[in-house]
Amino acid sequence: MQVLVTKDYAAMSRAAADIFKEHLKNHPQTVLGLATGSTPLGMYEWLIKYHQDGLDFSQVTTFNLDEYIGLAGDHPASYRYFMEEHLFGHVNVPKERIFIPNGMAEDPEAECRAYDELIRKLGGIDLQVLGIGVNGHIGFNEPGTPFEATTHVAELTASTREANARFFASIDEVPTHAISMGIKSIMHARRIVLLANGEHKAEAVAAAVKGPVTPDLPASVLQLHPDVTFVVDEAAGRLL
Ligand code: F6R
Repeated sequence: MQVLVTKDYAAMSRAAADIFKEHLKNHPQTVLGLATGSTPLGMYEWLIKYHQDGLDFSQVTTFNLDEYIGLAGDHPASYRYFMEEHLFGHVNVPKERIFIPNGMAEDPEAECRAYDELIRKLGGIDLQVLGIGVNGHIGFNEPGTPFEATTHVAELTASTREANARFFASIDEVPTHAISMGIKSIMHARRIVLLANGEHKAEAVAAAVKGPVTPDLPASVLQLHPDVTFVVDEAAGRLL
């Protein structure tokens, strides 16, 4: 595992975007794994700038980590909407190669199985970006999720619903469940870049990097992956 501590959020975002840019230049036909949340926003802004300067996404396939159950893609708090707003609306990934779990699927379990199958069929994820929850979650793999979990229906913890309430009118509107790529699905990615910024992530980051590898802190599983880079700002890296 490599750990890169940057001065601040802006530097974290730039460093992460540069990893993606280099990867894309060397592997234009790549499969990317993408995340939502506040953390990767700065990285996506850089990728949009790089695209305006010529970085090509026309042969890229993307898989997002997760989506809320019960929100359609046109709901402003859905992850599909978020991705359109913050990345896909501004770069040239072909629409038919953008994959995000369908939160409105009639049979969410079947949707989960189909999602993993599609990732496999399209060659697996080459480069995955992750954020981390204050409780150490990755995707919506909350503490206690088995490392063997593939894409599944996840029940959100109270702390995650509270953390995400800022995107909704009130906490009551935050969905209780989501479809999330599982830890096993995430660990299949060939390369993983985890981003974290801010004091509130410091404990989770330290536990993920140097604590015991345990389902109680899902991100600690990354210690077992052969090619992981943590890019964290000084505040999030404070306890390293
Ligand atoms: C988002 C996701 C989540 C977030 C995590 C951190 O697709 O899967 O695991 O990465 O909750 O969220 P932020 O970045 O908002 O602090």
